[in-house]
Amino acid sequence: MAAKTIVVTGGAGFIGSNFVYYMLNKYPDYRIICVDCLTYAGNIHTLRKAKNNPNFRFAKINICDKPAIKALFEEEKPDIVVNFAAESHVDRSITGPEIFVETNVRGTQVLMEVCRELNIPRFHQVSTDEVYGDLPLDRPDLFFTEKTPLHASSPYSASKAGADMLVMAYCRTFNFPATISRCSNNYGPYHFPEKLIPLMIINALHDKPLPVYGDGKNVRDWLYVEDHCRAIDLIIHDGKIGQVYNVGGHNEMANIDIVKLICKELGKSEDLIEFVEDRKGHDRRYAIDPTFIHDELGWLPETKFEDGIKKTIKWYVDNEAWWQDILSGNYQKEED
Ligand code: NAD
Ligand code: DAU
Repeated sequence: MAAKTIVVTGGAGFIGSNFVYYMLNKYPDYRIICVDCLTYAGNIHTLRKAKNNPNFRFAKINICDKPAIKALFEEEKPDIVVNFAAESHVDRSITGPEIFVETNVRGTQVLMEVCRELNIPRFHQVSTDEVYGDLPLDRPDLFFTEKTPLHASSPYSASKAGADMLVMAYCRTFNFPATISRCSNNYGPYHFPEKLIPLMIINALHDKPLPVYGDGKNVRDWLYVEDHCRAIDLIIHDGKIGQVYNVGGHNEMANIDIVKLICKELGKSEDLIEFVEDRKGHDRRYAIDPTFIHDELGWLPETKFEDGIKKTIKWYVDNEAWWQDILSGNYQKEED
């Protein structure tokens, strides 16, 4: 396969950084350019090892900054732009929605506009299963397919749905060469400790309360982050322009069961669990039907939840310096 230059926006965050490492490892002759403006969720220390690779470049740029994005793309002439950059936390979108519209909607539009002006051959939008809204708990036969109408519940998911609509509109109006993936909840290394799994692991390690929203019965469909990276790799190389691909591994778990499992793995008492006020508009259940990506691209998840969660807990135990830096705020000090 001919060597390519790939821009990865949001590559200092959770999934983007895993994707950077996945691609550098799998394609040693590809050039990987990470574009990230290092919000609170971006961590340049996560990319320390990547920075030693001569095929890697980090560019501190906001995706809404059109002149800076255009100058970078003119210089690097990417073959593919993969857009992970986003405000990603539902709770923050409830307390401060504006930045979600700015980054997730306008940022995506700026990237597409620059790609269009420079004739960049390929754009991939990393979206989410949350754009479909939620499913009831008493209908386990229902799943999200690519044909499920968009029905977002939170300002976060509405901003992601808005971006998806813009991508589809660019495809139709301008023949813009884009694909979209809508993935379920990821877990694994470098997950920012405001999200359920890393928060619970770190709190349990400190014997701190484990705050479970509402009745804890909300269901998420968990996928090990490397399986998501492999799906995007397949889509950007072999996917069909204008196509949406749902990505998920049929790994539905209630939040309370995950928290209990984390307690068990760490030898901590379930007495740490505290039921707290529910999230506003809290989606009940997400569940992806991944038949299409399996049939079209042969994608299947490789990591079973029982193995992935053990690997993830071990990663947090072994990489305490990474998350202690976040708790202390040191991670926002930049490196050379
Ligand atoms: P994250 O919050 O961990 O990382 C987001 C990254 O984007 C950070 O490095 C941040 O600095 C960067 N960023 C934010 N605003 C930016 C801007 N204006 N310009 C440049 N960089 C900016 O997010 P994540 O969990 O890794 O999610 C990545 C993408 O995947 C998002 O688009 C999200 O919607 C999507 N997604 C996430 C999940 C999940 O379970 N985490 C599942 C499906 C889809
Ligand atoms: O489904 C994909 C989405 O998954 C992504 O698009 C989002 O970017 C990502 O953040 C994630 O959204 P969730 O809202 O599902 O993830 P979060 O980890 O915030 O919460 C998971 C579930 O756990 C949810 O039902 C809320 C609950 N929860 C969360 C936290 C942080 C708790 O009960 N207690 C908590 O402290």
